[in-house]
Amino acid sequence: MDQPLAEGAAQKAQPAATASLSQPIFDLEKQYLLQNYARYPLVLTRGKGCWLYDIDKRRYLDLISGIGVNALGHAHPRILKVIREQSARLIHSSNLYYHEYQGPLAKKLCETSGLQRAFFCNSGTEAIEGAIKMARSHGHHVSPEKYELVSVANSFHGRSMGALSITGQPKYQADFQPLLPGVKFVQIGDEAGLASAVNENTAGIFIETIQGEGGIFPASAQWLRTARELADAHNALLVFDEIQCGIGRPGVHFGYQLHTPPVMPDVVALAKPIACGLPLGAIIANERAAAAIAPGMHGTTFGGGALACRVALEFYDILDELMPQIRRAGEYFFEGLRRLQKKHGFVREVRGAGLMIGVELDFTCTHLVAAGMQEGLLFNVTHGNVVRLLPPYIFTEKEVDRALNGLGRVFRQAKPVQA
Ligand SMILES: Cc1ncc(COP(=O)(O)O)c(C=O)c1O
Repeated sequence: MDQPLAEGAAQKAQPAATASLSQPIFDLEKQYLLQNYARYPLVLTRGKGCWLYDIDKRRYLDLISGIGVNALGHAHPRILKVIREQSARLIHSSNLYYHEYQGPLAKKLCETSGLQRAFFCNSGTEAIEGAIKMARSHGHHVSPEKYELVSVANSFHGRSMGALSITGQPKYQADFQPLLPGVKFVQIGDEAGLASAVNENTAGIFIETIQGEGGIFPASAQWLRTARELADAHNALLVFDEIQCGIGRPGVHFGYQLHTPPVMPDVVALAKPIACGLPLGAIIANERAAAAIAPGMHGTTFGGGALACRVALEFYDILDELMPQIRRAGEYFFEGLRRLQKKHGFVREVRGAGLMIGVELDFTCTHLVAAGMQEGLLFNVTHGNVVRLLPPYIFTEKEVDRALNGLGRVFRQAKPVQA
């Protein structure tokens, strides 16, 4: 059976050449931490811009951004300034009281998503958990039988019992059965499958507009439209999980905005990049979905704290300026990767949008992560054979060239590893 791995931690790379400084850290973790992660043997101590530095002062180009979190890279001066100012004023005050930043941040989220109301939490899993509760409550108000959820095979929505229940990867679920009842999975793009899964008992349909952990698979506009029509026909909520693909990464604010006209969801779940590394997640909903949550039905102690929300507001301002660059760097990256594809017959496909890129190889390639580290590149492999690239939005053509050169060298040495 698969070892229980962190999302993104897929296999062990070769130990660092000088393990002396790292070894005590490895030993302490081995003795005292729950052994649920199979970390790469790399102790990171510092980041600056697109670069990360390890305990032995080697530097690495960051092509994974802490799994899509460090969207502005590391130590961005405007983010540091805001953290310094705000942490001296107010970090947390709970949701018993108002502070100055939830309202303005909710306004930004609503304006950019086309939805009407926001709720703040601490992580992607919590955003999904809240969206599941919203869908279940929406259904419950119609009929006690209306609790079914429809999700997508190969999806990833998080590790809590609810989020796990709609995660379409049995390897993550196996040890925790029974999960939520009434969850059905359909293949991405399967119109007929979706049509037969959704009925009057469906409370919610959950879709990543670009599947992330499953291997960077974008959902087509037509299939999203079908999901919208089925949700409308059966009074279900359409929930888009934009936790990995959202907030600028695809070169637009949200994955569903890649299509014209966009297919509008009822609910959007967000997290990863929104507060540049501070824990913050959000649900954004239209009025119909928001009506399912009345006072007292949902909440959090930490979610939407002053510091995280203020940082997210700053991130949003910087994002406006960066959006053209995300598109430019993304296109340039895709062109370069397609050139690599022409050179290396084992590159099956390059897919994604903006700075969310999957390079699918025709063999299991988890071992390439170690080769990448030797080249000074940090990326990961997901779905066994997809090199996943989620670089910071501050990438320019210069960093893309550096990444392409390194990946070229990794691919030149790439040989399938026998199972
Ligand atoms: C699409 C998607 N949904 C949900 C999650 C869970 O988010 P978190 O790890 O912040 O709880 C992830 C995490 O990788 C994700 O990629």
